[in-house]
Amino acid sequence: MKKHFELNNGVEIPSIGFGTWQTPDGETAISSIKTATTYGYRHIDTAAIYNNEKGVGIGIKECGIDRKDLFVTSKVWNSERGYRSTLKAFEKSLSDLQLEYLDLYLIHWPATPNKYSDWQQINSDTWRAMEELYTGGKIRAIGVSNFLAHHLKPLLENAKIKPAVNQIEYHPGFKQNDCVKFCTENNILIEGWSPLGRGMVLDNDMLKEIAFKYQKSVAQLCIRWALQKQIVPLPKSITPQRIKENFEVFDFQISAADMELINEIGEFGGSGLHPDSIEF
Ligand code: A2P
Repeated sequence: MKKHFELNNGVEIPSIGFGTWQTPDGETAISSIKTATTYGYRHIDTAAIYNNEKGVGIGIKECGIDRKDLFVTSKVWNSERGYRSTLKAFEKSLSDLQLEYLDLYLIHWPATPNKYSDWQQINSDTWRAMEELYTGGKIRAIGVSNFLAHHLKPLLENAKIKPAVNQIEYHPGFKQNDCVKFCTENNILIEGWSPLGRGMVLDNDMLKEIAFKYQKSVAQLCIRWALQKQIVPLPKSITPQRIKENFEVFDFQISAADMELINEIGEFGGSGLHPDSIEF
């Protein structure tokens, strides 16, 4: 198993990203980034709405890894959609992170028909700003997050540059197979947020049984399962021992039969956040 996947524009992306959703800004963000890079992570996922870009940026600066060897992602928040606001939001993220460029920038959630009659236009305008930042060399790859096929189709019709990534909720209890299939067919790499179901899937008896067979934790099983499905898991932790554990997944292989068992587990532990019905 390689430690990188390749995006549709040829850029290499480290196959495990370090999630920072709900990581408090300041000392916790700084020290968790340093811990993560010590244990081998080279891919860091943040977002303007996480309110920790300043701490994450200090962690990046102080961790001792060359900027070019890190892969840093941020996301434009829902209140900043549209052409001009997206350009401004990007500059703010870059400045808070104290970086010269981002490796990946994502539209955090799609504008959707239940909230906006001109939702397709809003998404296209946001996307136009992303394309401009990309062609201007400010971002190495651009993509979306929480887009389902019916949000992606109109975006693709108007896009000059195809999204490289779609970041969606993804774990053994929440697989979004239709969205994954659509993205795979369109050469859009899936990243999985909450690959441990925010900790909610770790108590599942079947997952425990399979993990035991490999002498691994359920968290490690979930992360490895995503990797073997060519999906980039983004496990979040602020606990050094867990940060370490979640990266120790390159020394075992889940058998085809066990992959299938996990594929067939029913739905549980989902966040309940659906792009067409979220309130934010
Ligand atoms: P903490 O950050 O306090 O260590 P997800 O990535 O699916 O959103 O899950 C994140 C949640 O799972 C956090 O509450 C995190 O806690 C917890 N977590 C992360 N890694 C592990 C692990 N290896 N074992 C148990 N819980 C974990």
